[in-house]
Amino acid sequence: MKLDQIGFWSEIKLEIIKKYAGAYTSIMKNQSWCKGYVYIDAFAGAGKHISRQTGEMVPGSPLNALEVKPPFTEYFFIDLAEERADVFIELARENPNIHSYHGDCNEVLINDIFPNLGWDTFKRALCILDPYGLHLKWETIKKAAELKTVDIFINFPIMDINRNVLFDDFAKAAPENIARMNAFWGDASWKELLYKEQDTLFGDKQHIKLEGYPTLAKEFGERVKNIGFKSVPEPILMRNVKNGPLYYLYFASQKDVAKDISKDIFNRYKKGQK
Ligand SMILES: C[S@@+](CC[C@H](N)C(=O)[O-])C[C@H]1O[C@@H](n2cnc3c(N)ncnc32)[C@H](O)[C@@H]1O
Repeated sequence: MKLDQIGFWSEIKLEIIKKYAGAYTSIMKNQSWCKGYVYIDAFAGAGKHISRQTGEMVPGSPLNALEVKPPFTEYFFIDLAEERADVFIELARENPNIHSYHGDCNEVLINDIFPNLGWDTFKRALCILDPYGLHLKWETIKKAAELKTVDIFINFPIMDINRNVLFDDFAKAAPENIARMNAFWGDASWKELLYKEQDTLFGDKQHIKLEGYPTLAKEFGERVKNIGFKSVPEPILMRNVKNGPLYYLYFASQKDVAKDISKDIFNRYKKGQK
């Protein structure tokens, strides 16, 4: 199976998630009412990557989660690519606490996993939503918010959005990319937020971009709060070696204590410390 080569920004993301996961299980272990604290990796990947910096193998977010101490009580891994899902199907054969799914995580989460995480189950979950691009649907984030039992990390894919959707002239965006953006955003309101209608010299209308991705990201945080996540700290912006924006890493939770931990971890990484 072909492994992804990952840049330092992905290694930082992996570290952040790993640190938070450790803090999460340490707290949840001491909650006597809690009947399970589960880890969900919805865009699980191949399980490992190659570091561009060192050329060495780096464990991916699912393997990191399996190493977290104290351990989660259950693990759910999903990937759309069959050979990637197979990696976890293999692990699931050896460990009854691992559940692996091959499919679109938007469907698997809503149909198979979230229904078992209702408030009355006394379970809690940490869910990682880490796509390459615009593959996550708003409906999925909304369902997670409604449960009130799930904390999420979201990769907000600025590079895909900048490359394929946010052209200076809206007419340049392909309909399928606009549809992907609408599905991620939940509706088409991002267009009103960023574009202004203007008359052209030829008497037509044109939509010109006035605002860029920082405005979009700020509004996204508000939207995540408005659907029911109590705490959404300022996200961390990941840039590539040329300083180009790649994605924002968002965290959203129902508890202020979770927010404080994630804020502390985010701030340490923003300052370049580990
Ligand atoms: C960025 S990688 C995940 C990396 C992983 N979180 C890590 O850090 O080790 C994204 C993965 O999402 C998978 N994928 C893409 N669309 C998907 C979908 N709709 N549902 C589930 N998986 C999907 C891809 O096959 C790819 O393996």
